[in-house]
Amino acid sequence: MTSESHSPTGTDDPTLGPPPGCPAHGLGPGGLHRLYGPEAEDLGALYEKLRAEHGAVAPVLLHNDVPIWVVLGHGENLHMVSTPQHYARDSRLWTAVQDGTAGADHPLAPHIAWQPICSHAEGDEHLRLRGAVTGAMSTIDFRSLRRYINRATQRLVNEFCELGKADLVGQFAEHLPMSVLCEILGMPEDYNDRMVHATRDLLKGTETAIASNEYVMGVLTQHTLRRRANPEEDFTSHLINHPARLTDDEVAQHLRLVLLAAYEATANLIANVLRMVLTDPRFRAQLNGGQMTVPEAVEQSLWDEPPFSAVLGYFAKQETELGGRRIRKGDGLLFGIAPGNVDPRVRPDLAANMQGNRSHLAFGGGPHECPGQDIGRAIADVGVDALLLRLPDTELDCKEDELRWRASMSSRHLVELPVTFAPRPPQDVMQRPSVNALPRQRPNWQVTTEASEPSPAPQPVAPQAPPTPEPAARLGAWQRFLRWWRGY
Ligand code: HEM
Repeated sequence: MTSESHSPTGTDDPTLGPPPGCPAHGLGPGGLHRLYGPEAEDLGALYEKLRAEHGAVAPVLLHNDVPIWVVLGHGENLHMVSTPQHYARDSRLWTAVQDGTAGADHPLAPHIAWQPICSHAEGDEHLRLRGAVTGAMSTIDFRSLRRYINRATQRLVNEFCELGKADLVGQFAEHLPMSVLCEILGMPEDYNDRMVHATRDLLKGTETAIASNEYVMGVLTQHTLRRRANPEEDFTSHLINHPARLTDDEVAQHLRLVLLAAYEATANLIANVLRMVLTDPRFRAQLNGGQMTVPEAVEQSLWDEPPFSAVLGYFAKQETELGGRRIRKGDGLLFGIAPGNVDPRVRPDLAANMQGNRSHLAFGGGPHECPGQDIGRAIADVGVDALLLRLPDTELDCKEDELRWRASMSSRHLVELPVTFAPRPPQDVMQRPSVNALPRQRPNWQVTTEASEPSPAPQPVAPQAPPTPEPAARLGAWQRFLRWWRGY
C-alpha cells in the first residue's frame, strides 16, 4: 500500500497542491480536480488526466467540493463491486452524509439519498428484495418478449416511415423501451407520450421533475393496487405474490426502480448503437457483410459508451485498500464504469474490436449486478435489428460533429439522431420486416427477431399525448424534496 496523498474523509495535506480553491489552477480545495463545472465538460478527458496523475483510484471533488474517490481501473472497479464485506451501496455509511456536506440540499441528493429499495440494501434485506425482483423476472417468456419488441418497433417505424426522415432518439430510442417495459409490467394501456415525457423529465431533474415523478409514481401505485386485487400473468403480479411478501409501497418502489433503471439505460443503448452503425463505416460494413451481428454491435457499444457512465456510489464499511490507496471507513467511491471500460490495462488499443468479450462494466458486477441485462440486451438487439431491416437505407441527416449530447456524471445521451431514408408505406406490425416493402436492395442485416406471426390484423398506433404533468401541488420546498427523494 502506498502512502496517501489525499483522504476523501477530509484530512488533506494542504502542501500537496495549490491553496484551497486557487483560481489560477481552477482546482478545488487540496488541489483536487472537480467532477463538475468547466473542467468536467469533457469527463472522458478528465478521467484520463486523473488516471495519468493518480493511477487506478483518484481523489476528486463532487458538487459543493465534497471529496470522493473515483475508481478508474477495470480490476479495481470489479473488486469494489464484488467485495460486499468492504463496500456497500448504503449511502448512510458515507461520512459526507453523516456530517451533512452531502445532505438533502446537495445537488446530487436524488442519486445519493438512501431509499428502501434493493439497490441500496445489503445482506439479507438485499436478498429478500432482489429475490422478489429476480423471481418475477424469471417468469418472463423471452420468446414472447422478443416478438413483442419486434411488433413495438414496427408500430414506431410506421409512425414515420412515410415521411422519409425521423429523429431516431425522440421518435424511436426513447419510446421503444417504455412500450416494452409497460408490457412487461402488465400495464400496456399506460404506455403513451405522457409516460415517456414524465419519465424523461424526472430523470433530467428539471423544475417539473417533482410533478413528473408524482405522475409516474401515481400510475405505478394504482397498478400495484389493481394487481393486488386481481393478479394476472405479469411481472407486477409475480412481484406481489413472491414469498418475500413485499408491501404495496415496496412493490411500487421496485416498479419505479425497474422502470427508471431499465428505461434510461436501454434508451441510451439503442441511441448509441444506432449512432455507431450510422457514423462508423467499419460497423456498417461488418454488419452488411455478415461479419458482425447486431448483438455484437450492441456489446461493442456497451464497452465504448456504457449507458450508465458512473454509479454514485459505493461506501467503505471499514478501513481497506484499493488500487494502492488507503480507503478509510466512511469514504465514498464513484463506480467508474466508462473509465473502467477504457482502462489501458484491459484495452491497450481502443480501436480493437471487443467481439466475444463481455467483461465490460456496463451492467455492474457482484451482488448488485444488473438483473435485467438480458431484457435490456433483447430490446436493443431486436429493436435495432428490426429498424435496420425496415429502413436499411437510413443515413445520418447532419454532419457527425453536429450531433449533441446531454451529459452528467452518471450518463451521457444523444439529444437527437436525425436520419433520412426513402419514404415507404406502413407495414403490418404482426409481420416480420418484409423485403417487399423496400424500394431497393437491402443490405444483409443479421436477423435475430422471431419468426412471422400468424395474425394479419394491423395494430393501432400509439395513443396521442395527453397534456404534460401538472405543476406539483403547493407543498413546501422541503416536503417536495422529500416526496421526490422517496419517490412519491
Ligand atoms: C442496457 C440496459 C441496462 C443497463 C446498462 C443497466 C445497468 C445497470 C447498472 C450499472 C446497475 C447498477 C449495478 C451496481 O449497483 O453495481 C443496474 C442495476 C439494476 N438494474 Fe439495470 N441496466 C439495464 C437494464 C435493466 C433492465 C431492462 C432492468 C429491468 C427490467 C434493470 C433492472 C435493474 C435493477 C432492479 C437493478 C438493481 C439491482 C440491485 O441493486 O440488486 N436494468 N443496472
